[in-house]
Amino acid sequence: MSVGRRAADRLLEVPVVYRLWQAPFADAKLRPFLERVDLRTVKRVLDVGCGPGTNAAVFKDSDYVGIDVNPDYIATASRKHAGRFVVGDVADERVLPDERFDCVFANSLMHHLPDDVVRSLLRRMSRLTTPDGGVHILDLVLPEGASMARLFARLDRGRFARPLHEWRALFTEHLEERHLELYPLGLPGVPLWWMVYFHGVAR
Ligand SMILES: C[S@@+](CC[C@H](N)C(=O)[O-])C[C@H]1O[C@@H](n2cnc3c(N)ncnc32)[C@H](O)[C@@H]1O
Repeated sequence: MSVGRRAADRLLEVPVVYRLWQAPFADAKLRPFLERVDLRTVKRVLDVGCGPGTNAAVFKDSDYVGIDVNPDYIATASRKHAGRFVVGDVADERVLPDERFDCVFANSLMHHLPDDVVRSLLRRMSRLTTPDGGVHILDLVLPEGASMARLFARLDRGRFARPLHEWRALFTEHLEERHLELYPLGLPGVPLWWMVYFHGVAR
């Protein structure tokens, strides 16, 4: 990895830099999830890879638990938002709380994780939902043809952006698909990233 790339990645680990970088796209990223889920019905949410609390305000009326491997992000999130915030590496099988949530949520986490960790994480996430609850995942798609969005996906800090069919195969190993949507993020008419939204329930 180049020195410039490493420096940019380190910079994004600083909570305020990450928040500024995300701000213009945060609402658009959540659109398919918000179109599908009535937040008034969400009683308990587990936000896996919560970052510096990017999505915590959306769940302000729910009992919220966020988990992230970056202690600086968790410190910032705890200062700014209500809820319980935990430092933890999701590769550790014991790290997710043994509780039930009607919304188990992960926004832009899994493209940071290799396949074996994603598989194990999805298996564990699928077991934490209440009987009427679901797992909701938003993540970065690697477009298959040459494009600006493919370049941006390649430049991302996460090394595991995947083509849509690979995401779907991973998601449906442990979850029954209720909805899957591919959607662009960027400027009007100019997709800079492609995202997938997946809603699944435990098998
Ligand atoms: C692109 S950020 C997304 C943050 C937040 N969910 C959002 O929507 O802005 C990816 C997050 O995943 C976290 N992360 C990466 N690997 C992780 C791991 N192994 N365990 C827990 N969190 C991890 C990073 O610290 C970072 O906060």
